[in-house]
Amino acid sequence: MRLKDKVAIITGAANGIGMAAAKTFVKEGAYVIVADYNEKAGGDLVASLNAESDVAMFIKVNVADQSSVNEMVEIVREKYKKIDILVNNAGITRDGLLTKLSKEDWQQVIDVNLSGVFYCTQAVAPTMLEQGEGKIILTSSVSGVYGNFGQTNYAATKAGVVGMMNTWAKELGRKGINVNAVAPGFIMTDMVAKMPEKVLGKMREMVPLGRLGNPEDIAKAYLFLASSDADYVNGTVLHVDGGIVM
Ligand code: NAI
Repeated sequence: MRLKDKVAIITGAANGIGMAAAKTFVKEGAYVIVADYNEKAGGDLVASLNAESDVAMFIKVNVADQSSVNEMVEIVREKYKKIDILVNNAGITRDGLLTKLSKEDWQQVIDVNLSGVFYCTQAVAPTMLEQGEGKIILTSSVSGVYGNFGQTNYAATKAGVVGMMNTWAKELGRKGINVNAVAPGFIMTDMVAKMPEKVLGKMREMVPLGRLGNPEDIAKAYLFLASSDADYVNGTVLHVDGGIVM
């Protein structure tokens, strides 16, 4: 039990990688807050996690809305009196080539993937500072490192979170809070599964390990960074991509 009695907020936990992380964290003894705007999927997940005992809670939140984030964090503080872990996992894509990308699609991705991470981290920081400990994880992407066709907005946010991560690792590190990022490669979630088989085949060819990742591959990286195994890891980007970034 690597997260015994730890209180963990995972944003975007109603689906994909976040859902795998919620299941993994619960297995490792954590209380998990499924913070997502998808009420149906989040509620179903929490019901299944709570089948044996009360270990998870759904809170509807829009990470792009600062007051919604602050309310979510306040509910967690009231119920659990502490916050040990924040996984900034919620993210969206609105792809379009540079010459066609609309201002709305640019802004939406910035609001969720960049501002959302800032709002959530700023909201939990005072609690972690009071505690003198905490683990904060951000979710970057291989697109943020190398860029990707049609992903001006997405790549900007995923590179941007690395800048925020490095800054917070410096600001919060000396107060006992570890801040790190995971940069997933191509992971088989809804985000990727909707791509045509031809594109998926090309993606597989790019991966030295010869396969796309599973949500569990990323959940395990989140688990490592959230656990005491990573107590001396700070300001790092952990690339979990089968070797694309070498
Ligand atoms: P997904 O689309 O399967 O799940 C994202 C979850 O975030 C959903 O449950 C959705 O309801 C929630 N969400 C979206 N906007 C929200 C908002 N404004 N407020 C609250 N919740 C919101 O995505 P997936 O694939 O699991 O991705 C998780 C993270 O990993 C994202 O940050 C994504 O950018 C990143 N990532 C994913 C890769 C992949 O290949 N799937 C590759 C690299 C990074």
